Amino acid sequence: RHTPLIDPFARQISYLRLSVTDRCDFRCVYCMSENMTFLPKRDLLSLDELDRLSTAFIDMGIRKLRITGGEPLVRRDIMQFFRAMSRHLDSGALDEICVTTNGSQLEKHAGELAATGVKRLNVSLDTLDPQKFAEITRWGRLDQVLRGIDAAQNAGMRVKINAVALKSGNEDELLSLVEWCHQRDLDLTFIEVMPMGDIGNEDRLDQYWPLTDLKARLAQHYTLEDLPLNTGGPARYARLVETGQRIGFIQPMTHNFCESCNRVRITCTGTIHTCLGQEGSMDLRDALRSDVPMALERAIRTAIGQKPKGHDFDYARGEVAGKISRHMSHTGG
Ligand code: GTP
Ligand code: 5AD
Ligand code: SF4
Repeated sequence: RHTPLIDPFARQISYLRLSVTDRCDFRCVYCMSENMTFLPKRDLLSLDELDRLSTAFIDMGIRKLRITGGEPLVRRDIMQFFRAMSRHLDSGALDEICVTTNGSQLEKHAGELAATGVKRLNVSLDTLDPQKFAEITRWGRLDQVLRGIDAAQNAGMRVKINAVALKSGNEDELLSLVEWCHQRDLDLTFIEVMPMGDIGNEDRLDQYWPLTDLKARLAQHYTLEDLPLNTGGPARYARLVETGQRIGFIQPMTHNFCESCNRVRITCTGTIHTCLGQEGSMDLRDALRSDVPMALERAIRTAIGQKPKGHDFDYARGEVAGKISRHMSHTGG
């Protein structure tokens, strides 16, 4: 075994987020602009390259692998990749392989995903209103996603709903989302909207609903008890005492969690972004394709050696600061 990946701030990197496509069949208003130009398919890493890249990271101590996009399940051949990666679960090298998905293709793939050893799925769902869902995603169909969630649960996977807190979008649905998830035994995590990708400053501030406010609203109806739980992701958790329901809160804007960051992300073309909230990146594709022994391992270590301390996102003073030009969909969050 190789020495583990430690960054300049003594944080150990054990979580890899791998984007397998930049494409998505939705265009969520906080994530993409309406007219996105996607990469030609020939620019994507092949399944074999994705495998070798992930395996190199796993050999250096990655324990949790999350497959993202774009929307990962729109990539045609992706089930083959899941099947191949399951060997790392069987060998005990990986603790878990998770997926973040918009759910649109889940009905079709849930059974197979579960069979390859995926136990946890995060499904992005911000509203339960079909009309509003179509507006937020620009054309998505809620019923399709709901059938996908059912299929995933029926296949035995634990499903977590990711809801971006949107002032002008789902503020009025807070309690119904919470209750709906409770009734269906779905985990629920709220996320603060981050200033990534150009959608206009005004729009971003209009959307932003701080989770400090959301929590205060929840506290009018429930008693919130902080939980020490850590799933290795950025969420902090609280329990609603009255129902026992657990809710996650991802608060990059109001409760920075960079200090405990354990993750890096790779795009579908093999570029590593060691921080979601910084512009810097490094290409790993040349090293991946090189014949020089250890080239890939050396490149990965060089990148981790430059991991920034954290993001500079800030909406204080009514302005958007620390904004990143890359869209969230580029790295799947
Ligand atoms: P769990 O394993 O279920 O805890 O998942 P996760 O929260 O790590 O992953 P998910 O893909 O569900 O991401 C949820 C949200 O957290 C997305 O909006 C991501 O952009 C955001 N997120 C994940 N990692 C980071 C990070 O390092 N920094 C910031 N600012 N946001 C992050
Ligand atoms: N800020 C916060 N979360 C975002 N997501 C997409 N764009 C943003 C943004 N600008 C969320 C999606 C998905 C997760 C991967 O990231 O809703 O749940
Ligand atoms: Fe697609 Fe996810 Fe971005 Fe929505 S948030 S446009 S579902 S990648």
